[in-house]
Amino acid sequence: MNPVTDSQEQTEQLNLPVSSREVLSGLPDGKVQQLEIQHGNGDLIRILTALGIGGPFRSTSPWELQDEQGRHLIHAGGYAALPFGEAYPKLVAFVREYLENGATLGFAQQSASAWRAALEANLVALVSHFAPSHTDSQVFFSNSGAGAIEAALKFVRAARPGSPVILNFGGAYHGKTFGALSLTPNEEYQGPFRPFHGDVRTVPFGDLLALEQEIRSIGPEKIAAIFIEPIQGEAGVRLPPPEFLPGVYELAQKHDILLIADEIQTGLGRSGHWFASIAGGLEPDIITLAKPLSGGLVPIGATIARKELVTKLLGGMSSKRHSSTFGGGSLATAVALRSLEIIQEEGLVERSRRLGRKGLHRLRKAQARHPRLLKDVRASGMLFALELQGIVPPKAMNIQQETLATMGSALALRTLHKQGVHGCYSLNSAGVVRLTPALNIPEPLFDELFDRIDRFAQQNPQPWRMLTSLPTTRLPKLLRTLRS
Ligand SMILES: Cc1ncc(COP(=O)(O)O)c(C=O)c1O
Repeated sequence: MNPVTDSQEQTEQLNLPVSSREVLSGLPDGKVQQLEIQHGNGDLIRILTALGIGGPFRSTSPWELQDEQGRHLIHAGGYAALPFGEAYPKLVAFVREYLENGATLGFAQQSASAWRAALEANLVALVSHFAPSHTDSQVFFSNSGAGAIEAALKFVRAARPGSPVILNFGGAYHGKTFGALSLTPNEEYQGPFRPFHGDVRTVPFGDLLALEQEIRSIGPEKIAAIFIEPIQGEAGVRLPPPEFLPGVYELAQKHDILLIADEIQTGLGRSGHWFASIAGGLEPDIITLAKPLSGGLVPIGATIARKELVTKLLGGMSSKRHSSTFGGGSLATAVALRSLEIIQEEGLVERSRRLGRKGLHRLRKAQARHPRLLKDVRASGMLFALELQGIVPPKAMNIQQETLATMGSALALRTLHKQGVHGCYSLNSAGVVRLTPALNIPEPLFDELFDRIDRFAQQNPQPWRMLTSLPTTRLPKLLRTLRS
């Protein structure tokens, strides 16, 4: 290839295909899909569009959406990252105020920042309210959940250089960057990328005896840390037995193993608690947060660690050993600061617990009526799971169980969409659809969400019925794509 010439560098003469003005005034839906398929994660958008759930969607209120055909949807998607729904006016008003009045640097990498300082102080106060041993903990900011896990991994390595092993649990989801992926034991995601750096051993989730045996057989001195989600979100809202979290804590204390609670999905009210780990009887050394932390408006990740761990990684002349250009940026930390206040002002943790019980009751009734559609239903706070029965016996179609489960939940998402419900796929459990409505969703709309689930179940008492709504031309195409 020839070097770029000076005249090619003159991009002011280059006609870029889409202007910000065009997008602001509304790019036609077909064009959005076409550009995404052509230049983005094309196959993902192609599959979703083939299923009729590819959008683009418009929000008509923080809790409601409209699809490209004008269908009204209740928003229970967002992968637990939207505590207040889309563009919550209270938060948007605050952002406006921040932008108009802020004289702070956007990204204060080389200086102190008022917004970051305030959020650090408030996060530590919040954690230590529930776990007093965290009074002098410190916070490292990144831009995503995976970024928060990467930081946690580095805190662990720096603190325990002589202990090569890290324990995690079957079904865990900690993200897809390289380090975080090494802790996410899913063949589909890990397979092509092995070997990973480090020695990660996976123990069945919820099985204390297996954990104890694994620690004994490896030798506790070789184990640096245990990474745990108090409730496994992407595995389809899997709740451990009540004795599990206190048992993990006891074992970690006994053997001096660091405990990292990944609260990226469960934290800050989603599970019905500020911190599901602490509420469940486990006092972690490190807590990771992300998704709801800045109100679903600006990406942020936070790793809250005991002071001695922070000192090991970043103390003295090592303070640059881990860093992130955008981590702890002023807009993200300001919005997070305000988001924590809104969660408190509106009593959203208690609300999540109360509405969570009500929603689970509705789901259990639906499951009792339609056991051939719903294999199981689960919830903790406003984190709901519908586990579907297999769509057809795998032998009948000569396809793998996993492909059928993926197809089942893809069809369920489509069928729910037709019923006016926008839900979430589960990245580590193909047969489970999750609902993660905003914690402040108005109660009549919350009730309507479950009315629509009831109608979905009534109209599809057996999973294969969902196939009947699929245009016959789409099924072979869908199967081909899913198999590939
Ligand atoms: C428990 C948990 N940890 C980590 C992550 C990764 O977060 P992100 O997608 O922001 O990298 C997720 C995302 O779903 C998660 O649920």
